[in-house]
Amino acid sequence: MGAYAEEYARSIADREAFWAEQAAAIDWFRPPQRVLDADRAPIYRWFRGGRLNTCYNALDRHVISGAADRPALVFHSAITGQRRTYTYAELLERVAQFGGALIQLGIRPGDRVVIYMPMVPEAVIAMLACARVGAVHSVVFGGFAPAELASRIDDARPKLIVSASCGLEGAKTIAYHPMLEAALARSAHQPEHCIVFQREQLRADLVEPRDIDFAPLMRPGAFEPASCAEVEATDPLYILYTSGTTGKPKGIVRDQGGHAVALAYSMRAIYDIGPGEVMFTASDIGWVVGHSYIVYAPLLVGATTILYEGKPVGTPDAAAFWRVVAEHRVKTMFTAPTAIRAIRKVDPDGALMADHDMTSLRTLFLAGERLDPDTYAWAGEKLAVPVVDHWWQTETGWPIAANPRGVEELPIKAGSPSMPVPGYEVVVLDGSGDAVPTGTDGAICVRLPLPPGTLATVWGDDQRFVDGYLTTFDGHYLTGDGGYLDEDGYVFVMGRTDDVINVAGHRLSTGSMEAVLASHPAVAECAVIGVADELKGQLPRGLVVVKAGIDTPPDEIAAELVALVRDEIGAVAALRRIDIVAALPKTRSGKILRKTMREIADGLPGAVPSTIEDPAVVEDLRPILQPGA
Ligand code: COA
Ligand code: AMP
Repeated sequence: MGAYAEEYARSIADREAFWAEQAAAIDWFRPPQRVLDADRAPIYRWFRGGRLNTCYNALDRHVISGAADRPALVFHSAITGQRRTYTYAELLERVAQFGGALIQLGIRPGDRVVIYMPMVPEAVIAMLACARVGAVHSVVFGGFAPAELASRIDDARPKLIVSASCGLEGAKTIAYHPMLEAALARSAHQPEHCIVFQREQLRADLVEPRDIDFAPLMRPGAFEPASCAEVEATDPLYILYTSGTTGKPKGIVRDQGGHAVALAYSMRAIYDIGPGEVMFTASDIGWVVGHSYIVYAPLLVGATTILYEGKPVGTPDAAAFWRVVAEHRVKTMFTAPTAIRAIRKVDPDGALMADHDMTSLRTLFLAGERLDPDTYAWAGEKLAVPVVDHWWQTETGWPIAANPRGVEELPIKAGSPSMPVPGYEVVVLDGSGDAVPTGTDGAICVRLPLPPGTLATVWGDDQRFVDGYLTTFDGHYLTGDGGYLDEDGYVFVMGRTDDVINVAGHRLSTGSMEAVLASHPAVAECAVIGVADELKGQLPRGLVVVKAGIDTPPDEIAAELVALVRDEIGAVAALRRIDIVAALPKTRSGKILRKTMREIADGLPGAVPSTIEDPAVVEDLRPILQPGA
């Protein structure tokens, strides 16, 4: 048996012993009393009775053990040119200081703090300070519009919001504060205070007494630095909202103990990163990839993490990532395939790589969307390092399938994120819940219990957790992805089976875009489908039937709808194409045939079910839908 097969088998055959062993990588104030608590199955709890502090594990313990001067966080802005290195001691000092401010403002363990910030060190400081005082942070991605922020504020009910005056998005300066104001004007819940980090590129007009300037809070001596709150392993560390099948975003809850143990394990087993080594994750702290592999995991193991503000291309060129790798001697890099496609488009021969010394780079990890074989081959050839596809989701918080480089370098198969990660019992089921034969498509599921670090519940709604993920197939977690296992046990992920789409690595719901379109007074009915796109992986397209008697020109309605989605969901939704059509294809029971339309748009024949109400409707749409139309 190889090292992977042995480790995987042990993780499933004796879960408790396996995870008890991994828990030794974390410092506990009180060791867990039970490794796995199944009393409330299908909701499981890991490390019940254990007491710890995630910030202590990420910062204090490294300082105590002699790594005070090691770089913890390196801020690299490709936009302003700024570089700033925080050693473990400096980051701890900043975080403890901000934690002191949180306590002064009345934040207590369990209170929620929404963080709506661009990629600046202060955002990481705010996250870690929440962890330090036991508050539950909920970071909202900056590309979301006020309405999305408002719905998260209403769901999380934060006592405090931490934000910034602006974000720098390529050449654009995005004013965050007006968006925060607009969100608060829409939300029923109001925080007691908003702390605003003022950036010199665009200062915000603070609304006193609600708004508090970030900078004075950080002056030495302004507050008693916060010590680490002792929290339960099963207490929430953060809530991260993600798109579901309905318009209402789901607040994925991450626990304290399971999260710390799982992330530390993943750094050793998957990413092969240890103390003092440098990890560069080019994502955003607003996504799970940023939470896990920009902020928590590298710090939990005493590594150095790069916080990169910029784009893969255009800030200023397609060598921006390579510059980071060379300047900071990056060992492991992680990004989304979209970013590599964007670089390849501008620099197809990889000529810009030659100007940068990338001998430190050992592995490129890619995730967030399907890795197409072309991009895989290009990156491998140009970078001359292994390119590792791995598959996971906001819900799981760390990889479900990967090539575990720290355990064994398994052969890589293009198109597959390799094998199930130890702890995840991956199975592929048919509609009746039976395992499908090897090589056959089905719903990819994980047999319960899920390993530590995966979602504890949906914020404030255990029933939504159970109904949304755990009841379709008894005893299994439904990933929402379809695919198959091959004869060697490699996982092949073929795409979502629900209405979640992935646009440039950003997870979005076509259902919520439809809800926005339907709110327009001229719209009778509509459908949004995700269609294949060379650069962004997928792009949304809208098809709209206008109400009888509306005489506004179709182009005008389409433009209004594009603007509406941008205003309500955000620029990241990237819904740019809307066609006004005479009718949408439906079954006789009235279900819109989105799958048929999606297939036609992707250049496939587009199977028409026998239950279709009027086959002519599909034929009318074909010329509009097909690729290149
Ligand atoms: N704050 C505000 N606006 C944002 C934003 C943020 N944090 N992130 C993106 N946007 C805006 C963009 O400016 C753009 O606006 P525009 O329509 O006015 O041009 C819009 O949202 C769409 O953004 P994006 O999909 O990122 O497209 P792009 O053309 O700006 O960039 C890529 C394309 C491929 C370079 C970029 O998507 C990318 O780097 N992708 C990798 C994504 C990633 O790392 N995902 C995390 C999962 S691992
Ligand atoms: P998110 O919750 O934003 O991380 O998005 C998770 C979804 O992205 C998954 O359910 C998949 O549909 C998709 N995804 C992530 N990684 C991969 C991958 N390596 N291959 C294919 N799809 C992926």
